[in-house]
Amino acid sequence: DKGNHRHFMEKEIYEQPEIISHALSHYIDFATHTVKANDTAIDFGKVSGLAIAACGTAYLSGLIGKYWFERYARLPVEIDVASEFRYRELPLSPSQAALFISQSGETADTLASLRYCKDNGLKIGAVVNVKESTIARESDAIFPILAGPEIGVASTKAFTCQLAVLAALAIGAGRARGTVTAGDEKAMVKHLAEMPRIMSRVLNDIQPQIEALSRELSRFKDVLYLGRGTSFPLAMEGALKLKEISYIHAEGYAAGELKHGPIALIDEHMPVIVIAPHDRFFEKTVSNMQEVAARGGKIIFITDEKGAAASKLPTMATIALPNVDEIIAPMIFSLPIQLLAYHTAVFMGTDVDQPRNLAKSVTVE
Ligand code: M6R
Repeated sequence: DKGNHRHFMEKEIYEQPEIISHALSHYIDFATHTVKANDTAIDFGKVSGLAIAACGTAYLSGLIGKYWFERYARLPVEIDVASEFRYRELPLSPSQAALFISQSGETADTLASLRYCKDNGLKIGAVVNVKESTIARESDAIFPILAGPEIGVASTKAFTCQLAVLAALAIGAGRARGTVTAGDEKAMVKHLAEMPRIMSRVLNDIQPQIEALSRELSRFKDVLYLGRGTSFPLAMEGALKLKEISYIHAEGYAAGELKHGPIALIDEHMPVIVIAPHDRFFEKTVSNMQEVAARGGKIIFITDEKGAAASKLPTMATIALPNVDEIIAPMIFSLPIQLLAYHTAVFMGTDVDQPRNLAKSVTVE
């Protein structure tokens, strides 16, 4: 049932505040602002490192998870798309744990990567939406994302729920490893707890601006997304979302890679979507944006209020989200990216929930 939404994708985008709040309640204690010690077979305090494999959007949430596990828990993370991971003959040790992220829990390459890790003696964790899935069944620990059924082929609420779960796991791992203090934990968990309310506000506030912008975007053939730090996987996710439902060619790049190639493409025909919250990378990303502006590139600047005030560069549009803590920024910044892809696809007149050539669950290699 789509309720009063035109598409399942739209419904799933707007469901996120409520669903994330429910998902978070499984992982964090809202009263004490601590990560719950969910009984699992994986002791993140003891493991020597993590391996992560997943496909598509799930891979991109894993990539953001990598930044968090490394930064907060000081755990080295080896991550790859599952179709590569399974055949790389990656040397692994039983002292490591492995996480497989999959909405459906049935993706063939992800399952094959899981079995490779199992054969190498690693403890296996499944970050899945479908608890009865094959990936869940073959794992030692299940970390449900509790997103409820996701019908739209383009993943939206599963992505942000995966992020919420990975954030909680990384904070919990940091506590167990002594790299996150009780005070840090409390502060980060408080931000997570406030996130659903901020998401509701953002969804409500940015809709008209994004819809108008999407009409313009739907006229272009190519779009480049740039970001640094956790905004880099988000740039790739933005590009994936746009291409899969609007069929507009899009690429996501690390902002620092711009001058190593893609800058050659910059002209007035290819808008550049810059994802840059006012974080410790902001100045660097703005200097990349400057390089785009200097070459006549059209910029869509997705930032926060501080970032919007700090940059004087001319843009095609500036989307100023509320200033939020960096731990929740990837989830908040997912919203304009999802809505932009959604409305652009609606303008293009594509089959938003069932894009051509795509299946919701890829159970063959
Ligand atoms: O069910 P899974 O999470 O394992 O699926 C992985 C990908 O096929 C999936 O995320 C795909 O990339 C989405 N259509 C992206 O929106």
